Amino acid sequence: MIKEIVGIQWGDEGKGRASHYESKNAEVVVRSTGGNNAGHTVVANGKKYAMHLLPSSIIRDEVKSIIGPGVVVDPDVLISEIETIRKAGVKINPQKLFISGKAHVIMPHHKELDLLYEEMKENKIGTTKRGIGPCYSEKSDRTGIRMYDLISGKLTTQKIEETLEKANILLKQRGHKTFDKKEVYDLCMKWKEQLQDYICDTQPIIMQAYKNKEDIIIEGAQALYLDIDHGDYPFVTSSNPNASGSASGAGIGPTLVDEVVGVMKSYCSRVGEGPFPTELENEMGDKIREIGHEYGTTTGRPRRCGWLDLVMIKNAAFVNGLTSLCINHMDTIGKLDEIKVCVGYKYNNKEIDYIPMNREKCEPVYKTFKGNWDTSNSKKYEDLPENAKEYIKFIEQYTGVKVKYIGIGADEKDTIIK
Ligand code: IMO
Ligand code: MG
Repeated sequence: MIKEIVGIQWGDEGKGRASHYESKNAEVVVRSTGGNNAGHTVVANGKKYAMHLLPSSIIRDEVKSIIGPGVVVDPDVLISEIETIRKAGVKINPQKLFISGKAHVIMPHHKELDLLYEEMKENKIGTTKRGIGPCYSEKSDRTGIRMYDLISGKLTTQKIEETLEKANILLKQRGHKTFDKKEVYDLCMKWKEQLQDYICDTQPIIMQAYKNKEDIIIEGAQALYLDIDHGDYPFVTSSNPNASGSASGAGIGPTLVDEVVGVMKSYCSRVGEGPFPTELENEMGDKIREIGHEYGTTTGRPRRCGWLDLVMIKNAAFVNGLTSLCINHMDTIGKLDEIKVCVGYKYNNKEIDYIPMNREKCEPVYKTFKGNWDTSNSKKYEDLPENAKEYIKFIEQYTGVKVKYIGIGADEKDTIIK
């Protein structure tokens, strides 16, 4: 069985938690898009782990954790993440962690360019400054360095020079730090020393697992509305974190995927700039941020918060071909007396239920729900308070997708299966 876990809002919906939960019965878990712009938190056995590049299954010894071809890898970040997770008592070895040789390397100049490009923009994206965009750009330009290049024995200072030349001209002109080909080459050789045991062709591992009828989980990063084609361009990331892009980034064809789980929160949050029709720039927004601990795992930035937007979820259901939903933070939203949900937009004096090109002009149309529920004694769906069940039922009705997982706390045990 192949199952995908994808984000269907603006990221930070709890994909790590859902993937980790699912990896309980899986043999293989693959991270498929993005890089360390992701921040996936798992709370298991009373311990909290924050992952940026490693699949959240890494804390399970019996699972093969794969960093897939669609990922962009900052080797320094990966090396230090491996160290941190090891120090937390998790075993990491080449029988457990596999890095695709096809994954592209985030080079030092990508991070510098990320800063510069933001500086040059009048309308800033609010990127994570991790070099994600410039790395994917060079990948598309076919000038990138891949993980395999580090171990191929064929990497030369000349090849490094080819990737650096354009960047250095611009960086120098704009008064930014420039990069020396020899220093960058030496850095690549240092990365090779530390990561060579993990870099491989991950395709045969996945194909063998499929042949053996093993369970494979694709752990998506980012989310549909950060997708370069389906999100709020240009306020998006540089990859396709939708279900098709995620499957492709793992090396798996769409017809082989059995389930696509869309992960969402009971409200919305967003870091970075871009349209957010249901945003609450008031006390209510602050309240949701505080109760939901809405501060970035990757950058620590306070997240913008607002009401749940079901127009987005319905669209996400189609684009991703969702088979079920996972709703997190059902405990958080229940702490409010009254909850609003966006069920349409007023747009050009008309009421619409789709996402128009010009999202800034959308004014949400709300339906109000009774909140004030407590999920702390709920072990199964039947135990949930009536108001919470009403909320869930409405989401299912509106989107046409069944809710399968309900998150009522940060710990993996705080998951109700419906
Ligand atoms: P996870 O996997 C939330 C956002 C950034 C910015 C935009 C572009 O934890 O859900 P980038 O650095 O990718 O060029 O930034 O995308 N962004 C995320 N927001 N969660 C993420 O990942 C994100 N990854 C990128 O904040 O608005
Ligand atoms: Mg996150």
